[in-house]
Amino acid sequence: MSNQVTKAVIPVAGLGTRVLPASKAIPKEMMPVVDKPVIQHVIEEAVAAGIKDIVLVTRSGKAAIEDHFDCHYELEAELERKGKTAILESVQNILPSDVSISAVRQDKALGLGHAVLCAAPIIGNEDFAVLLPDMLINCYGLPQTDLSAMVETYQNTGCGQIMVEPVPMEHVDRYGVVDCSGVAITAGQSANISRMVEKPPIDEAPSNLTINGRYILPARIMELLKDTKPGAGGEIQLTDAMADYLNEGNLQAFHMSGKTYDCGNKAGYLQANVVYGLQHEETAESLKAFIKELDI
Ligand code: G1P
Repeated sequence: MSNQVTKAVIPVAGLGTRVLPASKAIPKEMMPVVDKPVIQHVIEEAVAAGIKDIVLVTRSGKAAIEDHFDCHYELEAELERKGKTAILESVQNILPSDVSISAVRQDKALGLGHAVLCAAPIIGNEDFAVLLPDMLINCYGLPQTDLSAMVETYQNTGCGQIMVEPVPMEHVDRYGVVDCSGVAITAGQSANISRMVEKPPIDEAPSNLTINGRYILPARIMELLKDTKPGAGGEIQLTDAMADYLNEGNLQAFHMSGKTYDCGNKAGYLQANVVYGLQHEETAESLKAFIKELDI
């Protein structure tokens, strides 16, 4: 099959209110997890899954994100002069040369669906990925990342893939929730979605399988988003456009194998730093020793 997905939308226009005051003057996406900003982890995940064109949906005050992926001539010249080759490479080669990043503006905070729609002129009539930058999907030690597995399933089936994970039932009202008609899916598997709903009341949720920020979507979603009315929280919801799509085509829930860290909240962000720190060759040993010594 020739289904390809080479474009990804990453909405970065959020206010970062859950991690204030840290995110007052810097975008929350620029907060580091070990030695890279969260957004770099997310973009590297997209690139590893074959994405070539990344569209950031951004707003004023967030230029640091674009700058991070741009060339910093002065810094590079200085590192070169000092012979600091390893550091130079880490700032020079953030992205492979065949990957491009562009940015569009979201001028009003009307919701995730609206943010994705802002990228429509660049996405055009192509199937596309969406990655929510708060969510780090850790696939350390797995044969492939969950996003790569989703792309593969999409290539084999032609069917849009929505990453899901089970959460405790009392938390389902924070997320988009999918209904796979009771079909049990295990890690790495996909199943057709019969229904989905954004932030349902707990007693109305169709399951505990929640959408966790990675999507491979048909181009048609952009058309549907143009007509999507405000939904949960008064916002234009991507989930509602996907739910409309179910009237005309299939979407599948992909059960992740890795682990999610929500860096948009303080606890998730701290956990990500501990886990990624324990997986990083420069910090693993000393961090492990430090944790063992803690009297907790
Ligand atoms: C968004 C989506 C929701 C998804 C969540 C994952 O909600 O609308 O379906 O479950 O991201 O984090 P938000 O967190 O922006 O309210």
